Amino acid sequence: MVTMEHTRVTAWTLLNEWTTSPGLIKHALSVEACTRAYGVKRAAELGLAGAEADALAETYSITALLHDFDYDKHPSAEEHPFVGNKILTEQGWPGEIRHAILAHADYSGVPRESHLDKALFACDELAGFLTACALVKPTKSIHDVEVAGVKKKMKDKAFARAVSRDDIRNGAEGLGVDLDEHIGFCIKAMQEKAGELGL
Ligand SMILES: [Fe+2]
Ligand SMILES: [Fe+2]
Repeated sequence: MVTMEHTRVTAWTLLNEWTTSPGLIKHALSVEACTRAYGVKRAAELGLAGAEADALAETYSITALLHDFDYDKHPSAEEHPFVGNKILTEQGWPGEIRHAILAHADYSGVPRESHLDKALFACDELAGFLTACALVKPTKSIHDVEVAGVKKKMKDKAFARAVSRDDIRNGAEGLGVDLDEHIGFCIKAMQEKAGELGL
């Protein structure tokens, strides 16, 4: 067992050690923006404040940052996210984080149970789709992305075809949020991190 701190900073370092693709780093950051925002919301719903609320948001951040950290080196369904999970286990990362990361891959057979599991899955594909929606704007800015436009693009099969519309819909449903609200919530979360995301 490697003794290390399990913070956003160490998660960020681990992500960058394993990932050379700038697109994947951006993906991690955009999923983090959305997932963390759900962590902040969850903390408020649970009546948490101060350090407890911050700790919950940090857990959501770390989970999102690390969910694809092995993907650059091990993209196959045989290896991702299992190779990553092995490393995270060896490094002593909390079980709730590893469970959510395993559960974000439908084919892992790990069911989505916790709010964190469901939030990560709900944000993963949508963050990618919102990025694609921003990049086709003349400004390439997330500030010009609106819910109605995103819904329209979801119906356009040729647009960002790698992004599963079913995953987006099922993600919102699994999290128990209305799809339009979910899209609006994630747009706002990404707008707040627009500088960091380069959008
Ligand atoms: Fe993944
Ligand atoms: Fe992902």
